[in-house]
Amino acid sequence: MGDEGEPRVVLREYIYTQEEGDANGELRISIPEVLDSEYGMYVWPCALVLSQYIWFQRSLMPGRRVLEIGAGVSLPGILAAKCAANVILSDSAAMPQCLQNCARSCRENKLLGVPVIGLTWGEISPDLLDLPPIDIVLGSDVFYEPKDFEDVLLMVRFLMERNPKAEFWTTYQVRSEDWSIEALLHKWKLRCRNVPLKTFDADKECLAGSNLPGRHSIQMMIITLDLEKSG
Ligand SMILES: C[S@@+](CC[C@H](N)C(=O)[O-])C[C@H]1O[C@@H](n2cnc3c(N)ncnc32)[C@H](O)[C@@H]1O
Repeated sequence: MGDEGEPRVVLREYIYTQEEGDANGELRISIPEVLDSEYGMYVWPCALVLSQYIWFQRSLMPGRRVLEIGAGVSLPGILAAKCAANVILSDSAAMPQCLQNCARSCRENKLLGVPVIGLTWGEISPDLLDLPPIDIVLGSDVFYEPKDFEDVLLMVRFLMERNPKAEFWTTYQVRSEDWSIEALLHKWKLRCRNVPLKTFDADKECLAGSNLPGRHSIQMMIITLDLEKSG
């Protein structure tokens, strides 16, 4: 904690550049990261890869209705909002300090109209039921605790039943070769497509002017409703 009981926050900048010759210049995102280990809220390697995909698809973003789950400091959601998507940020309803981090990232990037709500994976809460239509769900490094994998997919499945054309854009850090979501995707009638990192220039150790994702092994996936199996 800082002197006044506030968490110690450091600002980190992530820089997204346009193609050569594009007059619009670059987009800089400032993310406040909390230094106190008890909060442990900083940008995870997966977030750089998911954000790179969003940046690669930025022409699709204006007007898209986007929900980020397990957002933490929210780099992907903030980038999507800066690319003119209508974004809602969420993190666990049981972790108010994480929701404060989402709100702090919005303030730092002058995104005052972005709602921040508590959504806990696996819980059908009033806030989940009240969500407006969604086109894209973002989830960076939400598959990091095997005990939570099914709860994450349960929430995704619930959202897709209401929004059958929605896509779940998610990045996964390979921490164990034994971990897999394949059986759960089958159980919840979801389909998964791997997006090779080189197809969106994310096969690099340094992205957006940072030293992330480093040498971590990250996968980018797009998960949709399996319409054949869902009937
Ligand atoms: C590994 S961090 C990733 C944070 C951020 N998405 C990123 O990539 O930088 C996992 C995030 O999931 C959130 N989380 C953990 N358990 C959760 C739950 N049961 N429901 C919703 N969010 C949860 C944490 O608060 C944290 O923000």
